[in-house]
Amino acid sequence: MDNASVPVRVRPDVLSFPAYRQGRAPKKQGFKLSSNENPFPPVAPVAAAVGRCDGFNRYAAADLTELRTRIGEKFGVSADWVHLGAGSVSILYQLVQACAGPGENYIHPWPSFEAYPLLGIASGAEPIAVPLGGSAVHDLAAMAAAITPETRAVLLCSPNNPTGPVITEGQFAEFMERVPADTLVVLDEAYAEFVDREEAVNGAAVLQRYPNLVVLRTFAKAYGLAGLRIGYGLARPEIWQATRPTMIPMSVSLVAEAAALAALTPEAEAELAEQVAELNRRRAQLVSELQRLGISVPEAQGNFVWIPETELPVTAQQFAESCAAEGILVRPFPGHGVRITVAEAESIPAVCGVVAAILGGENDGEQ
Ligand SMILES: Cc1ncc(COP(=O)(O)O)c(C=O)c1O
Repeated sequence: MDNASVPVRVRPDVLSFPAYRQGRAPKKQGFKLSSNENPFPPVAPVAAAVGRCDGFNRYAAADLTELRTRIGEKFGVSADWVHLGAGSVSILYQLVQACAGPGENYIHPWPSFEAYPLLGIASGAEPIAVPLGGSAVHDLAAMAAAITPETRAVLLCSPNNPTGPVITEGQFAEFMERVPADTLVVLDEAYAEFVDREEAVNGAAVLQRYPNLVVLRTFAKAYGLAGLRIGYGLARPEIWQATRPTMIPMSVSLVAEAAALAALTPEAEAELAEQVAELNRRRAQLVSELQRLGISVPEAQGNFVWIPETELPVTAQQFAESCAAEGILVRPFPGHGVRITVAEAESIPAVCGVVAAILGGENDGEQ
């Protein structure tokens, strides 16, 4: 886009940047497997709490103390270590904008969460994308080597969206040794609840060891509150105090706060844990069906499975279009691969049917 077609003057660097694209809803009856949402309807205690929620002519309490205290109890820290945002993505923006400005940079893995390259636009910080290594895991050695005196933040994503593997505790400890003590490290654990690999780093468990660490979690994925927009970060209180000016004020809604409190009750947590266990069974099923079709996928530790483009006889975009023709929306990363959310049980044979047809088409062509 250029300024000539916009009625006001917009920064040229902003105009030249592609905006974040949200997963679309399917046009016909089908499956939305493009946004890593929880496919189950809200659990009863959460639905009841939202139903009871009136009084939203008022803002939520300014400091959201009850919810921060409750989250703090879950992780063994006090409320001042907990910060809430309208989705964890808003906390990512707050942190990068607060730490990195013009002439400075932040480092992120790639492919990874598609918002990462956009976080520095408003503050003028440069995103430095470090390609994933083999097996679609973070190349932590390359990320450490990319740190310069101008680096103000490093983002890590475990499990990595869109590819799936976790960072292990050992890899994380080794990496932290190489990061300057005054450089922010954000460990984005948006999909932590789906992780079942024991060696995976658990941010909350190592938080006390690293004063420069922020651990990000969300209610949008396993907790099923994507549409209400609420996520949180765990870190030393000084980090939250220092980065408050770049937070969007009053962005956590009263309804989201009530839903999150209800989601943390033992009854809701038990129901949600069952949903996660069921989704993890479906994840294993999708992985093994794909393997049976001859498609090899990296370790899947989130609520999604990654098909590298190299495993397909067509491009990621073409694969996504074939899925869309069947009413299935998946997320293509052009030149890299396709991410498929683990969701409705019936979506698994539907996706595998598309894969089989594409592979069959390839074989037809070869005959
Ligand atoms: C790795 C990662 N981090 C953060 C987010 C943002 O989640 P939310 O803002 O809904 O909490 C997402 C959403 O897809 C994600 O994949």
